[in-house]
Formats: sequence, C-alpha cells, structure tokens
Amino acid sequence: MASATNRQILLKSRPSGPPSTANFERVDSAAPEPGEGQMLLRTLYLSLDPYMRGRMNDARSYAKPAELGKPMVGGTISEVVASRNAKFAVGDIVLAYAGWQDYALSDGAGLRKLDAKAAPISTALGVLGMPGMTAYCGLLEIGKPKPGETVVVAAASGAVGSAVGQIARIKGARAVGVAGGVAKCRFVVEELGFDACIDHRAPDFAAQLAAACPKGVDVYFENVGGAVQQAVWPLLNDFARVPVCGVIAQYNATAPSPGPDIATILRKRLLVRGFIVWDFAAREGDFLRDMAAWIREGKLKYREDIVEGLDKAPEAFLGLLEGKNFGKLLVKVA
Ligand SMILES: NC(=O)c1ccc[n+]([C@@H]2O[C@H](COP(=O)([O-])OP(=O)(O)OC[C@H]3O[C@@H](n4cnc5c(N)ncnc54)[C@H](OP(=O)(O)O)[C@@H]3O)[C@@H](O)[C@H]2O)c1
Repeated sequence: MASATNRQILLKSRPSGPPSTANFERVDSAAPEPGEGQMLLRTLYLSLDPYMRGRMNDARSYAKPAELGKPMVGGTISEVVASRNAKFAVGDIVLAYAGWQDYALSDGAGLRKLDAKAAPISTALGVLGMPGMTAYCGLLEIGKPKPGETVVVAAASGAVGSAVGQIARIKGARAVGVAGGVAKCRFVVEELGFDACIDHRAPDFAAQLAAACPKGVDVYFENVGGAVQQAVWPLLNDFARVPVCGVIAQYNATAPSPGPDIATILRKRLLVRGFIVWDFAAREGDFLRDMAAWIREGKLKYREDIVEGLDKAPEAFLGLLEGKNFGKLLVKVA
C-alpha cells in the first residue's frame, strides 16, 4: 500500500461568518503503513454534516474544534485494506471516523463492523446512523408525539427531518414539514407521506404554516432556528415539546441570535430541551431494531444525495449550509 496516494482535505483557516473553499486545502502524501495492532482504512464514503460548521470554529462546545492543518473530521464508511490487528481482516467494512481523506490508520477503537448484506453500507452514515438516531431519539425521548397531535419539523427532506416526520406518522401523529423549494416540498408529501410541507422561502410562509396546523403545534422538532422558529413559536399549544436538535440557520452567525420569549415557555408550560444524539447512546439497539424494521416494512423511506470524489467535499459542504443538498449528503470517495 505504500505507493498509494493519500489525498487529504485539511482545515486551513477558520471562517468568520459563512465559510468558503479557501478555508480548506488539499495535500497529497503517501498512504501510511500500519504498525503492530493497527490497520489501514480506505474511505469509501464520507459523511458531510451540519455539525462540521461548528468544528471549524475555535469555540468551546460539546466537542473539540477541528485542528488547523489537520484533515477535517468526519464519519466514514471505510474498508480495511491492510491489517496488523487480529480483530479486523482485510475486506472488512467498518463505520469509522477517518475524516476527509482517502486513507487513515486505526487501532480499531470506536469502529463498528458493517454487514453489507443487511443494508446498503452508506445507510450507516444516514438513516441507520447518526442522523437517523438523532431523529428517533430526539422525537421519541423528548418530543413524545401522541396519536392525533401535530409535529412540525424543518429541513424536512434532509437526513434528520425526513425521519422525524415519518416516525411521527408511524406513531399516529400529523407530520408537517418545512423545506426549501417546491421540489423538496413535493417529495416530502408525495414520497415520504408527510401530511403537508411548506416552503420556508415563500413570502407568506408563516400564514401557510398556520393554515397547515389548524389545531396548533404539539411537537416542534427544532432543526433550523431563525425565521422558521419565529413562525412556529406562536402556534405552539400548551404543554408542547420542543426537542432542540440544531439551529442551522444560525451556524454562520457572528453574534448570538435573539431566541424565543421565555415568558411563553412559562405561560404555555413548554418543554424545551436541547440534546446531542449521543446523550441517548443507551438506545442505539432500540433505534437500529425499529428503524431497520420500518425500512423493511416500507414505512420509512430515505433519500441520499451522493457527490462523487473527495475533491468535491468542500463545495458540497458549503452547499449543505445553503440547502443545496437534497437528502443525506455523502461523498463517494472510492
Ligand atoms: N443534536 C444532534 O445530536 C444533531 C445530530 C445530527 C444533526 N443535528 C442537526 O439537525 C439539523 C439537520 O441536520 P441534517 O444532517 O439532517 O442536515 P440536512 O437536513 O440533510 O441538510 C441541511 C438542511 O438544512 C436546511 N437549511 C439550511 N439553512 C437553512 C435556513 N437558513 N433555514 C431553514 N433551513 C435551512 C436546508 O434544507 P432546506 O433546503 O429544506 O431549507 C439544508 O438542506 C441540523 O441543524 C443539524 O445540526 C443535530
């Protein structure tokens, strides 16, 4: 393997406001040789996720910032191409965290072997991976939708939102999505089976959303913040639950954004709870069992947006922050 070239996309500088391709730099070097107990992983798929915008900042958060001059961090589906580790053989496919590069060394810590016969391997980064588990746990542990209630979720055609609305429907609730543009809204209703989906770019977005939620909103699964949050907030019913999953509309902000009025939380006795998916690590087994069954039974569908080639990763990632992706964004690396 020593002759193979390892393309790496490094974090070159930290953005202030919206990132650009200039924040990244590609460098090529020889793929490393595994030492005793190690193996060499080759990246097949790289996951691109909104949280990566936060890692580009040098700010205190729930995870450490990505390091300047190092490959950008990221989840991968990787193949073991050389092994000096007794637990992994050449040809094994693993869920790893190898980052934006072709090859990485691993000692096996934190890897999960995948069975390519059980499900397409790319799903371990999407509907059967971190984003799917975020939807499952955030909705069921915090949102707790009841039959007949109304659940609203934005970024509804995306990795997390698409699963949130479908799980809400499986639990007997009404699912109202919010998405950017006519094509995404149509997909959310016609393919995913949501009861309605409203385009957040429409000039009368707030009025359309109110009309789609005639009995108010019982669960607002917060994915975006910003203008969508402001339109949903007045529609919340007493005792509504708000799992705060992400605020992608605010990830490029350079100053804190004004949040919802705390008096409303008191007056309506809202439950507003932020979470990071791994808070619910103990539920991973339930998640995999239920989601795999719902996919098999045709109750839960997923869409992937696969970009070809590691070099495309920076541009594709920037597009994710602007809604250019349509489904779970992945890079096919090898
Ligand atoms: N708490 C956790 O542990 C956890 C884990 C995973 C993900 N998340 C969060 O979940 C959210 C969704 O993530 P994902 O992986 O499923 O991404 P995704 O939905 O596949 O892609 C991001 C989508 O966000 C939407 N968006 C971007 N800017 C927006 C804006 N200003 N206003 C409204 N919508 C905007 C775009 O969709 P439209 O074109 O439809 O607007 C874009 O396609 C993100 O906030 C992410 O940070 C949290």
